[in-house]
Amino acid sequence: MYGWILPPPREPTKSSEEYEKERIAKVRWLVKHGYLKSERIKEALLKVHREDFIPHNYRDYAYLEVPLPLPGEQATISCPHSYPLFYEPLGLCKSHKFLEVGLGSGYCTAIAREVVGSDGLVVSVEIDPLTYEFAKRNLENANYHDIVLVKGDGGFGYPEMSPYDSIAVTAACIEIPTPLIEQLNIGGRLIAPVLEDGTQDLILFEKGVKDIQRRAICKVLYISLRGIYSS
Ligand SMILES: C[S@@+](CC[C@H](N)C(=O)[O-])C[C@H]1O[C@@H](n2cnc3c(N)ncnc32)[C@H](O)[C@@H]1O
Repeated sequence: MYGWILPPPREPTKSSEEYEKERIAKVRWLVKHGYLKSERIKEALLKVHREDFIPHNYRDYAYLEVPLPLPGEQATISCPHSYPLFYEPLGLCKSHKFLEVGLGSGYCTAIAREVVGSDGLVVSVEIDPLTYEFAKRNLENANYHDIVLVKGDGGFGYPEMSPYDSIAVTAACIEIPTPLIEQLNIGGRLIAPVLEDGTQDLILFEKGVKDIQRRAICKVLYISLRGIYSS
């Protein structure tokens, strides 16, 4: 899986108390290392049980800084630090209309739902039918019934609910798909891993009235975007 060393699959052994301790320790670690600043994102990370979004044989590794495989062709659940890494620069906050490309396990989607609250909206698009079903089940089991889940190519976005205040593309692309830029509000932000010269930069885009500003945040390592805008 793209240079990451995967821990071996095994029967889970940890209790819910152990997971809770790991969750709290992870949030402290994210704060200490400067990834996590917003109180709403912090509360969401403490509330959502990441272990409930992980395939059975990888559940014990829920809070390790490693992407874990999911049902589907190439899908992974990103490392725990990825969520503040994406959501802090995006400025994801209460009442936002948020679009995610790449639903994965549904964990990131649940975090976003907690952050935007009941006044906001979360739409997530997943291209892989197996991954989509896995995430849908996870979200239902965790009692999230008001997220708009779409099975299809997220490169087209989801114009029905646009414009969005923030968009996260969670797979690497060479160029940001034009429909996503079109579906972003003026003043809205989009974050995506962008491939250039064989490496990936996490780039934050901000849409102005006349142009789009871009800022590189750091190097990242994501699976490639599939579909019509694949690299
Ligand atoms: C690295 S995973 C991230 C999943 C999740 N957002 C997270 O951060 O844990 C990327 C996901 O994007 C999905 N994906 C890839 N290309 C896509 C596309 N064109 N439209 C929608 N989903 C796509 C993959 O199937 C995979 O589930």
